[in-house]
Amino acid sequence: MNDDVTAPVVLVGMSVREVQARNLLHEVAHEHRATVAFLQMGDPSVSSELTRLADLGAERVVLVGVSLGSLAPAASWLRRIAGHWLRQRPGRRPVVEVATRLANEPAQVLEVLRLLRPVTGTEAGLESAAWEDVPGHRHQVLVCRGPRCTALGSDRTAEAVILELMRLGQTDDDVLITHTGCQFPCNHAPVVSVQPDDVWYGDVDPDAARQITAEHLVGGRPVESVRLPRSRRTGR
Ligand code: FES
Repeated sequence: MNDDVTAPVVLVGMSVREVQARNLLHEVAHEHRATVAFLQMGDPSVSSELTRLADLGAERVVLVGVSLGSLAPAASWLRRIAGHWLRQRPGRRPVVEVATRLANEPAQVLEVLRLLRPVTGTEAGLESAAWEDVPGHRHQVLVCRGPRCTALGSDRTAEAVILELMRLGQTDDDVLITHTGCQFPCNHAPVVSVQPDDVWYGDVDPDAARQITAEHLVGGRPVESVRLPRSRRTGR
């Protein structure tokens, strides 16, 4: 354990970026005698790791969010998840503390370990009126984060789509971005598909991602230079 904190420390990967960089996260955790969990898209989840440590008798647990990219959710999400877990946990519960800032690189872990705030159980829940309805977006963009696309840079593809959408003033109500596992035409990695248009793209580097975003997602015209042929079975 590090010098300042004697409770179990859990480094929490906040986004798909840390799921991809899980080996690095485990190395950093090993250095700090911490364990690893993920806010989303990776195992174990924050709730599972809290339950495991509580079942082992931990009286205090410290959560540190780690974001190695630029698009992770805020640290407040960690408090929200931990607050929900505390409310659901039957019997004895440990004190859970959350670092108020995310560590944006491994060297910042010790620094943010000095910025702890206890979770009270009164944090906002996991439901909201704003999350009731299926969104009215016109396009859903499926960015492949499978093993081959990941190895060939789909993290930068996804980031380019997100930043270009933001630059063009588009929100989740216009275009919904979904990270997926393997979509199958791996030879064309990184792969992106756009629904409901049923348009598939291959070799989508950041420049192509920005072009697809501006011309197809916003302008409505598919980008033919990186479009993959699509044959579709109909009926039997
Ligand atoms: S890993 Fe992306 S299509 Fe297979």
